[in-house]
Amino acid sequence: MVEVIPAILEKTLEEIHEKVKRIRPYTKMIQLDVMDGAFVPNETFRNPWQLRDLPVTMEVHLMIERPVLFVNSWALPNVQRLIVHYEAVDNMEHLIQHIRQTGKKVGIAINPSTSTFELKPYINDIDLVVVMGVDPGFSGQSFQYDVLEKIKEVKKLRPDVLVEVDGGVNADNRDDIVAAGCDILAAASFLWKSEDLGAALAQLRG
Ligand code: DX5
Repeated sequence: MVEVIPAILEKTLEEIHEKVKRIRPYTKMIQLDVMDGAFVPNETFRNPWQLRDLPVTMEVHLMIERPVLFVNSWALPNVQRLIVHYEAVDNMEHLIQHIRQTGKKVGIAINPSTSTFELKPYINDIDLVVVMGVDPGFSGQSFQYDVLEKIKEVKKLRPDVLVEVDGGVNADNRDDIVAAGCDILAAASFLWKSEDLGAALAQLRG
């Protein structure tokens, strides 16, 4: 069964708490989307200290410029891994090392226009590749089907690296994404807009 991670993309602490409260009966793992208004044209809540007691395990998807400056503050006890964007990083080797020093796992996300070829130098030093199904910034966009090939390409580079697909995931495309070899689906709008959160999660899990 594929793992499904609900994504939370909110501007206020209250909204984050509200979503966590809704999702907790169904899962203990969430993706927190962090946007700075510079790397992507949208901003979200960005005060990690206030999330240190959030009663879930998180992967933090840093859609920000110069993520190296923010690694320490996001390496909270309830954070399992930090996901950084290939496109936002100058010195990836250094950044990976820095994240490792915090004890957190490392994920690299690639935008739809970024080739998996760029991952080659780092693929053995990371835990997870996030193949973006949309250009990051907003939830509710349509999945770009041509990224499916990238899942296979990443698995060819390293069969045991985890591959997550994020952006535009829904009940109609999840079979194709899973068939391409994806291990983890991150989803926001399909889940949050559903009338029955538990049923929607079950649909994505398959
Ligand atoms: C897209 C974000 C995604 C987003 C997914 O900018 O990176 O994590 O939350 O949202 P949906 O599932 O609605 O595309």
